[in-house]
Amino acid sequence: MAGDSATARVPAKVNVQLAVGGLRPDGFHGLANVFLAVGLYDEVTASHGDGRDDGSAEGDGTGRQDCGHGVRLTVSGRDAAHVPLDESNLAVRAARLLAERHGREPRVRLHITKDIPVAGGMAGGSADAAGALLACDALWGTHTPQDELRAMCAELGSDVPFSLVGGAALGQGRGELLTPLETGGTFHWVFALADGGLSTPAVYRECDRLREAAGTGADVDSVPEPRPSALLLDALRSGDAEALAAAVSNDLQAAAVSLRPSLSDTLKTGTAAGALAALVSGSGPTCAFLAGDAGSAARIAAALEESGHCRSARTTTAPAPGARLLPA
Ligand code: C5P
Repeated sequence: MAGDSATARVPAKVNVQLAVGGLRPDGFHGLANVFLAVGLYDEVTASHGDGRDDGSAEGDGTGRQDCGHGVRLTVSGRDAAHVPLDESNLAVRAARLLAERHGREPRVRLHITKDIPVAGGMAGGSADAAGALLACDALWGTHTPQDELRAMCAELGSDVPFSLVGGAALGQGRGELLTPLETGGTFHWVFALADGGLSTPAVYRECDRLREAAGTGADVDSVPEPRPSALLLDALRSGDAEALAAAVSNDLQAAAVSLRPSLSDTLKTGTAAGALAALVSGSGPTCAFLAGDAGSAARIAAALEESGHCRSARTTTAPAPGARLLPA
């Protein structure tokens, strides 16, 4: 029998290659997207609730909301105030989708302990969706097969399937068609967290605008089909940080920097402090720095914090495992 609560821990991601194809008629872009899960985590706890706000305190939650249809959401952590508490929250949508598939009421309390930056280009919202699916599935004892969970993840968002599987993977299509990738070692990363987020659709639109302005066109007939880099996949497989640094790329970087020009100062600061590679993480504004070892990562983080070009800097390693239930 299922217990009174279940908690899932889910990692953030960085895209070591984000090759963006042309704008498709459905509003998405075809991608060759090499995801790497990194050791920053959100936790999603699902517990039994009647969907009404009883006014009780929960953790250091700064927000709570009855989202209707029986889902009640609270969030704690440094960025809690920036997390949407209405039905636009992907964790709420995930709980509802799972309930609907099993023909039951989505009667649940969700609590998210946020450590992944909000709207930061690190798949924080996607992590919460994958976590809510796993935690609700355990709480409700619905035993959803893994392939069905994956399909639900893809319905919820392009990055959600990767949050479930973690490790390293190539995402094609709009990012949801995953092929697991081998990694040969531990990579050291530093993340420069920014004040405020960037909207993913706005960054894709800016990418299209820059392509149009450059005269190359932005649709599927004008932009070459995105392909994974063989050098990059080799570097991941061999665990060679210098080779990986030489191969990383992000087609959304110019768009993110165009919308937030100060990111170029952040990138330069990390490079000057010894980063092997500096890139915008996904659609930004978090910046990612690949370091040669843990000592170098600590020095890069200190330089970034000292510079004032970011809100804070975090060191971590990759690959990290995908969404996992924590022991009760
Ligand atoms: O799939 P998801 O809901 O996370 O995507 C958010 C938005 O990002 C989409 O509505 C679209 O504007 C943009 N996007 C895109 N191409 C992708 C993935 C996302 O244009 N492959």
